Amino acid sequence: MPLDFNPFTQEFKDDPYAVYTRLRAEAPVFHTGLNLWVVSRYDDVSHVLKNPQVFSSAGMGGSPNLDGRGTRTIINTDPPDHTYLRNLVNRAFTPRMVAEMEPRIREITRGLIDRVAASGRMDLVADLAVPLPVTIIAEILGVEPDRRDDFKRWSTAVISATAADPSAREALSGDLLAFRQYFEEAVERRRRAPRDDLISALVRAEEADGRLTTEEIVAFAMLLLIAGNETTTNLIGNAMKALCDHPEQMERLREDPARIPNMVEEALRWDSPVQFLFRTTTQDTEVAGTAIPAGNTVIPIYASGNRDDAKFPDAARFDIERNTQGHLAFGMGVHFCLGAPLARLEAKVAFEELLRRFDGITLEPRAKRLDSLFLRGMERLPLAFEPAPVSAR
Ligand code: HEM
Repeated sequence: MPLDFNPFTQEFKDDPYAVYTRLRAEAPVFHTGLNLWVVSRYDDVSHVLKNPQVFSSAGMGGSPNLDGRGTRTIINTDPPDHTYLRNLVNRAFTPRMVAEMEPRIREITRGLIDRVAASGRMDLVADLAVPLPVTIIAEILGVEPDRRDDFKRWSTAVISATAADPSAREALSGDLLAFRQYFEEAVERRRRAPRDDLISALVRAEEADGRLTTEEIVAFAMLLLIAGNETTTNLIGNAMKALCDHPEQMERLREDPARIPNMVEEALRWDSPVQFLFRTTTQDTEVAGTAIPAGNTVIPIYASGNRDDAKFPDAARFDIERNTQGHLAFGMGVHFCLGAPLARLEAKVAFEELLRRFDGITLEPRAKRLDSLFLRGMERLPLAFEPAPVSAR
């Protein structure tokens, strides 16, 4: 079959990794359309990500703006604008703040597990992997408890707004407006009476420097929803799917739960929730000897770099004990995922609690993959299990 890169085909959706293997071997810098170049080897993906002056993020699109103003956010800017914005949000989104959330993440996780424990069955996605990150982001942003249900609905709308289907976008625009309005008011309220939440921290940063607008704070809240929720859901789903498909590894994890953090890294590497993103060339350039003109779109495939044998020996093998150092699932360079510590912590706690509470976790029929252009995850992951002996709880 001729080599192609078309993520819309069923063949690609069924097994993107087979396509990546061919790309790396036959055409590591593949010209796939008029102005479109696909980069698939680890070293070349890293090269693209480490050179933002040549491979710009400006074309990445911002948060979905109803009025099309295309507000600048950290994801769609390059240095020096990016450096400035990233420093502001870094101040508000510290690793310490994230580490302090562990008890609360555990409490939420336990509450969600309690709801399904007696039944011996759950859909991991709907029952845990979706509600956990949404609840955490709502709390980080400081959404009042009585607005949490609204917030969940808006989140779905914001996430769907990134979907390709324009009619779906149209239908959800009311929720998007409500989301914007709520956060614009929230910013105003924090100006008058700061609290201990992320919006207040951003307002403080704005007042200190005077260069972050209300619009930009709202866009950042939206970015957190888009960048942080579905990705974390997919990490938890993909990791569980991998473990169910490799029961011997699930056993090793049970024998020693201290392996969970490395299992999470391996799941990120082996089945990356963000498969690829986009960059735009600012000048004529070359990747691994292939010339790429200025103004073209480059697609660095993070998930393919992660399956490159030159970097990860026997890369197609899922191995919870391997050295995963340098994997690209959170990107690399200046745009390295801001939420990586939070995503790692949520996944760690989720698996600690699931393995502690449930024995004999197995896949039930009707698991379903998510249909998405560049995200990879499970839409449904039905599991059966037995409660663990009381002494293990
Ligand atoms: C497993 C879960 C996650 C994965 C796989 C993931 C993946 C990524 C990747 C690949 C990038 C780099 C984008 C680029 O190269 O242009 C990124 C950036 C980002 N992520 Fe995550 N992410 C996850 C969770 C989160 C969470 C929980 C949050 C926030 C609560 C978050 C917030 C962000 C933000 C704000 C950026 C933009 C950073 C910048 O451009 O400087 N992510 N993420």
